[in-house]
Amino acid sequence: MSSRTPNLRIALIGCGQIADAHLQEIRKIDCAELVAVCDVHQDLADQAAARFGVPRADSDLSAMLAEAKPDVVHVTTPAHTHCELATRLLVSGVHVYVEKPLTVDFSEAESLLETVTRTGKSLCLGHDQLFDPIWLRCRELVDAGVIGEVSHVESVLGYPLSGQFGRQVTGNPDHWVRRLPGGLFQNTISHPLYRITEYMQDTQPRVDAHWYAAGTATFPTEMVAHLRGKTVTGSLFFSTRIQPQRISRVYGPKGGLEVDFDAQTIRVIRQSRLPGAFGKIEMPWRHWREGASNLRHNLWRFLKSDIHYFAGMRTLFELYYRSILDGSSPPIAYDEMLRVTRVMDTMFRHCRVRTGAKRLAALSGASPRLSDRKANSQSEVDDLDEVISETEQVS
Ligand SMILES: NC(=O)c1ccc[n+]([C@@H]2O[C@H](COP(=O)([O-])OP(=O)(O)OC[C@H]3O[C@@H](n4cnc5c(N)ncnc54)[C@H](O)[C@@H]3O)[C@@H](O)[C@H]2O)c1
Repeated sequence: MSSRTPNLRIALIGCGQIADAHLQEIRKIDCAELVAVCDVHQDLADQAAARFGVPRADSDLSAMLAEAKPDVVHVTTPAHTHCELATRLLVSGVHVYVEKPLTVDFSEAESLLETVTRTGKSLCLGHDQLFDPIWLRCRELVDAGVIGEVSHVESVLGYPLSGQFGRQVTGNPDHWVRRLPGGLFQNTISHPLYRITEYMQDTQPRVDAHWYAAGTATFPTEMVAHLRGKTVTGSLFFSTRIQPQRISRVYGPKGGLEVDFDAQTIRVIRQSRLPGAFGKIEMPWRHWREGASNLRHNLWRFLKSDIHYFAGMRTLFELYYRSILDGSSPPIAYDEMLRVTRVMDTMFRHCRVRTGAKRLAALSGASPRLSDRKANSQSEVDDLDEVISETEQVS
């Protein structure tokens, strides 16, 4: 941003895991001034304020709004609080940046966006990886026609539960993540999902999804989903049993692009131009040259101190703030927020129904409490009917 005078007062609510990234990136933006942080736990708000030099820390949102008078509030609380908090903030007259996922379901998302329309304030959703430098590079190559018209996008998210947050989720059956309708996936799959929907035009792509618990896990930890639109398909693989990784592959008739967010590399997937054994020499040679080019590029960025895990987040914040100052549309379209929320709802419903159907099949043998359990599963069967008819209507 060119201006050196901060002209937007920014506050944040929810001083947990992701709040630090927000505070760190907001501080780098010239037109933004951090004025307050808030958390239900005053000590967490105090600590965040001390770490990032924020002048005010509150545990009461009304007090923060009245005293700090922010123009924008970032909502970095758990997903089940997003709708209520964001609605309250919009009604009180501030613009809102809300972390993904937007809400816990489509009906909450619709109601939130109605509030946006009613209040005339704007809303931005944390689809920050769309602005990651490596994804921007991928978009440039797609737009330049390197792979032709996109026909398929694949997204992989490796999310081992051995980290601090994963251990909290695993060890506490009452953790807020475990209580979301889509459980662990609701908190995590937005990123790999919106990398797929970016290339789909369909309002409601056909969805087929399946989740299961790996090893000794007591809740679903793995998910495989397939999305089918009119011209583009997508596949999403989420696993807690692989290394942490964020990879997407975008395919078209002329080849593919493999984007690795963590390595910040991009690779063109293409057939060899040379016949037979010559191709086996050409391909590794090409990979070697691509590796060298990625290395040169990252070295250059490293020397300029330009490699940041949350670079996409900062770009999204800047674009959002600029849209507020200009009065232009926010960087993530409201229709896209609704579409991604709807697709997530459908995915989770499919997963629940499949789990229910499997349970029903397993229960087909006689059991003393079979009748009770069949009764419990009836709603899942009804759900299955609904999903099937919904799918038939769309296709
Ligand atoms: N963009 C990303 O890469 C990314 C990464 C991690 C998390 N997230 C998202 O950020 C959100 C928060 O996740 P987290 O991992 O930081 O959670 P967290 O549990 O670590 O932190 C949430 C914080 O919010 C506070 N809080 C809860 N309810 C509140 C309320 N009503 N008012 C004020 N404070 C409240 C809690 O005390 C806690 O400090 C989630 O939606 C998550 O999906 C995004």
